[in-house]
Amino acid sequence: MSLALAKNTEEDLWTILEQMSLRDKIGQLRQVDGSGGRADQSLLGAIREGRVGSVINVVDPVLVNELQQIALEESPCGIPLVFARDVIHGFKTIFPIPLGQAATWNTDLAKEAARLAASEAYAAGIRWTFAPMIDVSRDPRWGRIAESFGEDPLLNAVFGRAMIEGFQGEDLAALGSIAACAKHFVGYGDSESGIDYSSTNVSEFELRNVHLEPFREAVAAGVASVMSSLSDVDGIPATAHRELIRGVLRDEWGFAGLVVSDWDSVKQLTVHGITADDREAAYQAAEARIDIEMTSDAYENHLEDLVSAGEIGVDTIDAMVMSVLTLKKNIGLFDVPYTPKDYKLGVSESAATDCAHRQASESFVLLKNDNAVLPIDRKEIDSICLVGPMADQPQEQLGTWVFDGDSGLSVTPLKAFQDTLHKDCEVVFERGLETTRSSCGELAEVAVEKASCCDVVLAIIGEEAILSGEAHCRANINLPGDQVEFVRRLKATGKTVIVIILSGRPLTIGNILPHADAVLFALHPGTMTGPAICDLIFGHTSPSGKLPFTLPKSVGQIPIYYSKKNGGRPATHDSIMSIDDIPAGAEQTSFGMTAFHLDDGFEPLFPFGFGLSYANFEYSDLTILSNELTQGGKLKVSVRVGNIGLKDAYEVVQLYVRDRVGSITRPVRELKAFEKILIPAGQVRDVRFSLSRADFSFYRRCREYGVEPGAFDLWVGGSSLADLHVAFEIDA
Ligand code: GLC
Repeated sequence: MSLALAKNTEEDLWTILEQMSLRDKIGQLRQVDGSGGRADQSLLGAIREGRVGSVINVVDPVLVNELQQIALEESPCGIPLVFARDVIHGFKTIFPIPLGQAATWNTDLAKEAARLAASEAYAAGIRWTFAPMIDVSRDPRWGRIAESFGEDPLLNAVFGRAMIEGFQGEDLAALGSIAACAKHFVGYGDSESGIDYSSTNVSEFELRNVHLEPFREAVAAGVASVMSSLSDVDGIPATAHRELIRGVLRDEWGFAGLVVSDWDSVKQLTVHGITADDREAAYQAAEARIDIEMTSDAYENHLEDLVSAGEIGVDTIDAMVMSVLTLKKNIGLFDVPYTPKDYKLGVSESAATDCAHRQASESFVLLKNDNAVLPIDRKEIDSICLVGPMADQPQEQLGTWVFDGDSGLSVTPLKAFQDTLHKDCEVVFERGLETTRSSCGELAEVAVEKASCCDVVLAIIGEEAILSGEAHCRANINLPGDQVEFVRRLKATGKTVIVIILSGRPLTIGNILPHADAVLFALHPGTMTGPAICDLIFGHTSPSGKLPFTLPKSVGQIPIYYSKKNGGRPATHDSIMSIDDIPAGAEQTSFGMTAFHLDDGFEPLFPFGFGLSYANFEYSDLTILSNELTQGGKLKVSVRVGNIGLKDAYEVVQLYVRDRVGSITRPVRELKAFEKILIPAGQVRDVRFSLSRADFSFYRRCREYGVEPGAFDLWVGGSSLADLHVAFEIDA
């Protein structure tokens, strides 16, 4: 009997609900894993009995339609299944990992990429993705920093919005649109020691003013779903966190979408030790309004009993089921339950690879460029030597979370240089190291020998994809293996050495800088890594990436991030000393000491927002045009940026603010706005920003959001070290 109605309005859904048994309702609250051949008879049976609402990890459109037909025609209520997949940074065509997308500071590109990914996924039968991941991540040891948009709440917020808009499109029910899912609610990026699945001891103020902000923006952007994190939040696992899910997400913010647990995270409440068994886990998750249980079966096994015992109200179950039915309605499943066989990707493959190329090019951050060694003039070289374990790795360059990525589409650096240079320049390739973790051996010797005979050397190194991502965390974040020694030997040939680092996380790379004339840093740039590198090396494109994180000197500096608190004894250049300067027999003293490490000082290797260009930008004329914040209006700011270089180039103009005095201590700087703008060589552009009171609102000591009057500092520049400054007041 199919209750699915062609016209589906709110009341239609209630009509469906009223005709459902309790078992039918509980079936909608269950997501089953269909990967690895689990789309077997037991799954078919469960669908037929109406005990499945969603399937994850089936990406064969034919199988999707077969399972859907069983649901529609053979299950008690005929309610369509929603098929889900982790489409994180592409489906077949792979875009830079989200951390790399953040490095572009170009949200338009992120939205375009998500739209293209949605279209490719839709063609495979997917209607729901578990992205964007918007966990503010300040610990590069944590493997999942790769999936985030870095250390800053604003960057995570605006890129999260861009991806949501890309995935969900103008019309969530249209062909090619898929439901997005903001994850992992909340604070997961603060995993202790940078170890995945560990505790997050986040203070209430930090939770409110840092980690919740991107999710607030995602809700405002209309995200269809939210996923609870695997971690506990200050002692309460997110999947049982009624105060955060019901209290903040739903009641305070008005989120009316669906909340899905993470993989087995309902069942894991007992592992956390917040529940004694599955029955209690089902109770706590349902009470928190986790609408769908991903892959575990606590709801399936215990919700009926909990309702019969009066511990869970039918109204709670109905609200959960309505969330599921509403999601299905909103993505058009009641009207178009099958993946249309004639559905084209809606976009050509070239459109996807073109976007991947542009986004990869913009994701590279130029950290060093001694004597303007880059860009290289092709006419001036007869040979180029490509070496390194990442120079020809079509799969590794895709990065983490690429279940469906087609490495056959990958253009590696080696391929790109061979295609680009043809006959007018010899391309020599030697891997030099088998993997990024290898030691220098015969391969390295051969590579160094070959390099010594070429005009310029490109060393393409970093981390393989598997060294970051979920559950892949590192206690040391150095370049693995003998890569530094390998580059040292290359430099010892006396040749120009350009180092290109492809990794899934920030790395401590200070020890390679002395051996590199130039360093380009990228976060696994995806399918079009090779053409992007070619563009940058030969100057078709000027590097425009900026770090979405702080690059530490050593792992011992972590956590280190730009928007830190000042403390009572902040370090300054003249207040620190080096461990090497401490004489033997030094007496114990702390007088005059400040906040720094004896061995690494207080500054990072490279700051948040940093990135060089082939152009040079000059900032001037920072002016407050008007300040009507006190009256509830805007603060309008203007700054002039000049490109005094010889090449047209993009600059990311960044605006930071400091609230000098607050009812709680405030960060020394906070990114409040940015604009990526193309400035032709020799020209200037005036950039204007407009900030509202909301930009200065925070969760205060009184446990309410609001703006506190007082004095503020404002800086604008090309990184978080921006020093062009004005001050202003908010009077009330
Ligand atoms: C994983 C991840 C989550 C992902 C889910 C489904 O454990 O934590 O981000 O969406 O399971 O694959």
